Amino acid sequence: MIVLANDHSGLEIKKAIMALLDEMKLPCKNIGTDSAESTDYPLWGYRAAKLVASGECDRGIIICGTGLGISLSANKVKGIRAALCSDCYTAKLSREHNDSNMLALGARVLGTGLAVLIAKTWLETPFELGGRHSKRVAMIGDIEKGMEL
Ligand code: RB5
Repeated sequence: MIVLANDHSGLEIKKAIMALLDEMKLPCKNIGTDSAESTDYPLWGYRAAKLVASGECDRGIIICGTGLGISLSANKVKGIRAALCSDCYTAKLSREHNDSNMLALGARVLGTGLAVLIAKTWLETPFELGGRHSKRVAMIGDIEKGMEL
């Protein structure tokens, strides 16, 4: 289950990503705003992140104007590795190397076509389990636990 969340600026891209998920036969939970009225991005980043951190959703895609505010908010939740991506290479590597569990997109930065392609790349790319990447992702968890590196 993929959770989708957005503020007012991310509405159009959210709709396009819902169509992509439908095409990919991936179930989704839309918890973002469906209105163009101004709203606060931390709310959506936080709510989506909680669903991923709790295991209720497998991964999440979050959208605000730049992708910054919503990713910063999501990354405050323990267990969240939200990657703000504006290109497919970063999206792919954020999965392979960082095991990102949330993708953040900037609706005012990206065109809808590119945003959808980035989301598709991110959804299709697995984490390179084992070896140096697992160790490094575990180190991110250690920081979260307050451990010294
Ligand atoms: C909303 O105007 C805008 O600030 C928000 O979508 C986002 O870009 C914040 O980081």
